[in-house]
Amino acid sequence: MDQTHDFLPGNFPTVRMRRLRYHPGIRRLVREVALSPANLVLPLFVRPGQGVRQEIASMPGHCQMSPDLVADEARHALSLGLGGVLLFGIPEAKDPRGSDAMSNLGIIPEAVRAIKKAAPELLVITDVCFCEYTDHGHCGALCRVADRVDVDNDSTLAMLGHQALAHARAGADVVAPSGMMDGMVRAIRRSLDRAGFQHVPILSYAAKYASSFYGPFREAAESAPRFGDRRSYQMDPAAAAGQAMREIALDLAEGADLVMVKPALAYLDIIRMAREQFPGVPLAAYNVSGEYSMIKAAGRLGWLDEKMAALETLTAIRRAGASIILTYWAKEAARWLGA
Ligand code: PBG
Repeated sequence: MDQTHDFLPGNFPTVRMRRLRYHPGIRRLVREVALSPANLVLPLFVRPGQGVRQEIASMPGHCQMSPDLVADEARHALSLGLGGVLLFGIPEAKDPRGSDAMSNLGIIPEAVRAIKKAAPELLVITDVCFCEYTDHGHCGALCRVADRVDVDNDSTLAMLGHQALAHARAGADVVAPSGMMDGMVRAIRRSLDRAGFQHVPILSYAAKYASSFYGPFREAAESAPRFGDRRSYQMDPAAAAGQAMREIALDLAEGADLVMVKPALAYLDIIRMAREQFPGVPLAAYNVSGEYSMIKAAGRLGWLDEKMAALETLTAIRRAGASIILTYWAKEAARWLGA
């Protein structure tokens, strides 16, 4: 018998994978990865003033806006069925300890109140971190460690507690600490609980890497470090993937309700691993500024199709295992998905 024509089960031509792709209907039928506007979160940048809209050059389509205009955006986000908005603040004045971040009259509390008036049903998530508020641009208070200046982990914890509380008092629905301080979730949980905000969930940026893909964000949030970098607190891209799992496990033990991997695209393996190791935990991924800007730029140059590339990116993040995606394409994606 001629072995080369022996049609074993699973072999061509008995098996033809293209049968599942032949008809648009069958392709749709066998799809498993679905994107929904309800799982997308739109980041917004708030700055003081009224009627202020300042374009962010490196992130076309995104602006810094004053609270009144952010409230309009929030209304729009709600009408598109988005999962929520994530707020970043650019304060009137910065100082070494980022005072505006801890004030009930700070830029974020003001924006939260404006949004809650305009779109009460919209989920409002606030970024809890100090890099936008400190004059040195680092994510907490500074201290000296041996011959280096570094972020002082433990004194920053109390500051984070104050910041999260100011956000919760203003009406924030979820607080999202992004500073990668050890113990930050525990400190924030305690601060919220003591003040009667036991019901406010914490979305922890649990596995956040020191990434070059944050470049455009630092222009958007005016938060670039004035010296040094963030490698003494954010994760090393070359660290063992298991280190990210430890970060997630620790944040969960401290009381995190949802966890995030960030960035998304260069860390799909981490998303997948987190999905598998923590199956019952809501998992978010941050499709960060650089991931947005590079496709936006290539789209503008005519080098690729922005819509197709963006949807493919979001699908990949979803397929890797993230159920929630923070993305600068949230509004467009909702429209593309037919919301
Ligand atoms: C820190 C923070 C950063 C981002 C979100 N929160 C910047 C950083 O760590 O330097 C980046 C988000 C993005 O690039 O889209 N508050």
